Amino acid sequence: MKTITAGFPWSSADNCEIFIERGLLAHFTQIAEFRKKFSGVKKFAIITDENVCRLYAERVANSLNEAGFDVVIPYFTPGEQSKNIDTFFMLQNQLAENEITRSDAIIALGGGVVVDLAGFVAATYLRGIPFVQMPTTLLAMVDSSVGGKTAIDIPAGKNLVGAFHQPAMVVCDPDTLGTLPAENFADGMAEVIKHAMIECRRPEARTTSALLHMLNSEIPISENSGILADVIEANVKIKRDIVQRDEFDTGERQLLNFGHTIGHAVEKLSSFKISHGSAVAIGMSIITKSAVQKGQCAPECAEILENLLQKYNLPTHTDFSPQEIFEASLSDKKRTGGFIIEVIPRSPGVCELVKMPVGDLLDWI
Ligand code: NAD
Ligand code: GLY
Repeated sequence: MKTITAGFPWSSADNCEIFIERGLLAHFTQIAEFRKKFSGVKKFAIITDENVCRLYAERVANSLNEAGFDVVIPYFTPGEQSKNIDTFFMLQNQLAENEITRSDAIIALGGGVVVDLAGFVAATYLRGIPFVQMPTTLLAMVDSSVGGKTAIDIPAGKNLVGAFHQPAMVVCDPDTLGTLPAENFADGMAEVIKHAMIECRRPEARTTSALLHMLNSEIPISENSGILADVIEANVKIKRDIVQRDEFDTGERQLLNFGHTIGHAVEKLSSFKISHGSAVAIGMSIITKSAVQKGQCAPECAEILENLLQKYNLPTHTDFSPQEIFEASLSDKKRTGGFIIEVIPRSPGVCELVKMPVGDLLDWI
């Protein structure tokens, strides 16, 4: 079993272990660390969405029941539209009605929407209780599983209300990707490609991105790839290294926002019909082409990015106008005063944070 440890010296959170193994949902309760961390827990609330509930909740509940835990399963309608205050209150209420106490714990079983929502519920219910993440989309495995960002959307914008709340543990079973629709797998590949484009900012940076090398192999990565667990591990490590150095997103962690200012605007303009991964792909593509045009990025960087996005069936442009995208991005939380911090690619694997007047963003778009 692959085991990666993330430590957070700046917050009071304990180390978080990320376990990756095929079939793990059926036997995660046998992991010694799980037994140790949750020895005082009586009841787990498995928060999930309807799709994932149908597919995997029973498997997780059976594992927990066999290990002697009680289980309740609050679930909600799948999709970004549910990541809101109404679902948040509904889940909080269900926890209270099921008498979940401070010595109990939450399991977030699902994609990024479940992880963000259940994580925010865990951060706030009874002023915070422990939670375990069980990501079931590629995006949640490679991205939301690390770093403790939890959030809901409000009408003014995406992820504008939330908290940092580190999971106690992450249980990642790549077998669950076998039921994931192809377009959702592609969404996860957008974040994988993002990590490859920023990887070399690590201090132990190599001259080329190792992940980029994996992505350039002739056979595309799929849910059946022999190297899938290696790809997930590589992504988790890239993100873990960044987040450990900047847990609260005041510096280097903002590199993970590559493509996200435009991406969030595109998601919002489409009323969330364009998925997060696709929107990020569009955002990375627009900002990279613009950086090349301005002579601020090696042209080969745009070529590599475009090829990878096409290889994984991800979009590279949108019909929304630059003005529309600009206006929709004004509520972005990366904005401070009259400035916004943008992630600008320089060469394959290397991006930089650039603080620019908000007005300049229109020109970039
Ligand atoms: P999602 O959670 O909506 O899942 C996509 C769809 O796949 C849903 O319909 C879901 O029911 C279904 N599904 C999930 N697992 C499945 C499985 N194994 N088999 C079949 N169907 C399955 O979307 P997502 O792309 O996973 O996550 C997007 C969200 O993640 C966005 O809200 C984004 O803001 C958030 N996000 C958070 C972080 C973070 O660090 N917290 C990072 C990246 C993205
Ligand atoms: N997904 C970006 C971050 O966790 O910072």
